[in-house]
Amino acid sequence: MDGNKEAKIGRRGRAAVVVLGDIGRSPRMQYHALSLALQAGFEVDIVAYGGSDPHSAVLENQSIHIHKMTQWPTIPRSLPKILRPLMLLLKPLIQFLMLLWFLCVKIPAPDVFIVQNPPSVPTLVAVKWASWLRHAVFIIDWHNFGYTLLALSLGRSSLFVALYRWFEKHYGKMANGSLCVTRAMQHELQQNWGIKATVLYDQPPEFFRPASLEEKHELFCRIHSHLNQPYGSQDCISNGIIAVGSLDLNETLFTHRVSNDIILKQNRPALIVSSTSWTPDEDFSILLEAAVMYDRRVAAFLNEDDSTGDEFVWKEISDGKQFVYPRLLFIITGKGPEKEKYEEKIRKLHLKRVAFRTMWLSAEDYPLLLGSADLGVCLHTSSSGLDLPMKVVDMFGCGLPVCAVSYSCIEELVKVEKNGLLFSSSSELADELLMLFKGFPNECNALKSLRNGALEMGSSARWAIEWEENAKPLISRVVSGSSK
Ligand SMILES: *[C@@H]1O[C@H](CO)[C@@H](O)[C@H](O)[C@H]1NC(C)=O
Ligand SMILES: *[C@@H]1O[C@H](CO)[C@@H](O)[C@H](O)[C@H]1NC(C)=O
Repeated sequence: MDGNKEAKIGRRGRAAVVVLGDIGRSPRMQYHALSLALQAGFEVDIVAYGGSDPHSAVLENQSIHIHKMTQWPTIPRSLPKILRPLMLLLKPLIQFLMLLWFLCVKIPAPDVFIVQNPPSVPTLVAVKWASWLRHAVFIIDWHNFGYTLLALSLGRSSLFVALYRWFEKHYGKMANGSLCVTRAMQHELQQNWGIKATVLYDQPPEFFRPASLEEKHELFCRIHSHLNQPYGSQDCISNGIIAVGSLDLNETLFTHRVSNDIILKQNRPALIVSSTSWTPDEDFSILLEAAVMYDRRVAAFLNEDDSTGDEFVWKEISDGKQFVYPRLLFIITGKGPEKEKYEEKIRKLHLKRVAFRTMWLSAEDYPLLLGSADLGVCLHTSSSGLDLPMKVVDMFGCGLPVCAVSYSCIEELVKVEKNGLLFSSSSELADELLMLFKGFPNECNALKSLRNGALEMGSSARWAIEWEENAKPLISRVVSGSSK
């Protein structure tokens, strides 16, 4: 080590981050790029597809250079069936050539390539070749297994799936280092693939944090007109909203500005956020059914004389005690193929106490929404049973408790009754909603205690620390091994 400055990693001082996907929708690879630049002093080249904008922290960092590849066009439906298999073979071939061109020619030679898996074909072989041609090392960041994702659409017994698995294992073993997202995956890689990987948990970066009252109010002003648009006719949200489109509102659905103070309204709806990529592996109908059940069960509590004097609050009297239930507003964020199908279903529900809105928020507004909500719902089930939903990590970063679908390794993340709850059916989710929002907003102790658990978890664990402790030592070891 020379001088008191931290030793530079690698002789070129460059790293390349490779994703065969939309960089704007690959947060973990964006965080890698930020950490490589800020914590390891690398110049970073990102090679990926465009589509959505990455976080402004990535765009504004002078040491991060984004190189966007042209996307392979979707196969037109009108294409004769006979030509389809040909296209399926042609696609990875073209992707492979495109990747090689970018990795070997377009970007300056790096010390290390860090590549996201999946997709494995043709990414792993392209990065392997590039690392050989450019005298660099390569590290695979295992987010999941590509072959299990493929098996979702083709079935476990498909020959393609077996081929894909062979490829993934063969090239996976050639990497000079490996990172993965759970202990369960680390174990699988070690036992069945002969790959020694370091666990790097997803952790929220700094911008996922609870929102201040001011930030909440401003966010609700920005999305005000959107909240005002119901699916189908009026619903319990659009009914109660003040119909002005101005950005300089003093009153939103949730907040009220009185001179310089902002207060949360007593009869505000409970705000529940779920983000989804609207793909077949997330069964969104669980959430819709739970919403219908909440609506019906609250209706069933009501007696003739238990009007609360507020058309948006409902009262249950049991054992001589009174409990109120709020309206629920579900905001569903995300883009994806099945969105319209579900929007059509939502339109037909006709609920009195529950409303849905779908939106796509900017990378800056999304953390604010999480930081302003009362509960997060996660419908992620893993194709391999070995990865964890990053959206839940983000929710905890914002101090948001979570109800998540239960599966094998989810408890590495969600600690039941500490920072969240698990469910396996829509009925269970409906029970949890009733239990958590009974007495909302002031007398819901179960929700408050989960919230404290989430806040605690969110404030102790951060991406930069996790990266410093687990990824940086691995990268520096692998890179320095190559310069000897
Ligand atoms: C908001 O309140 C301020 C005073 O507190 C008032 O001057 C302003 O006109 C109000 N804006 C709207 C849109 O009502
Ligand atoms: C990286 O892996 C390749 C293939 O396994 C190997 O040939 C090369 O020596 C490794 N480099 C380092 C620095 O370990």
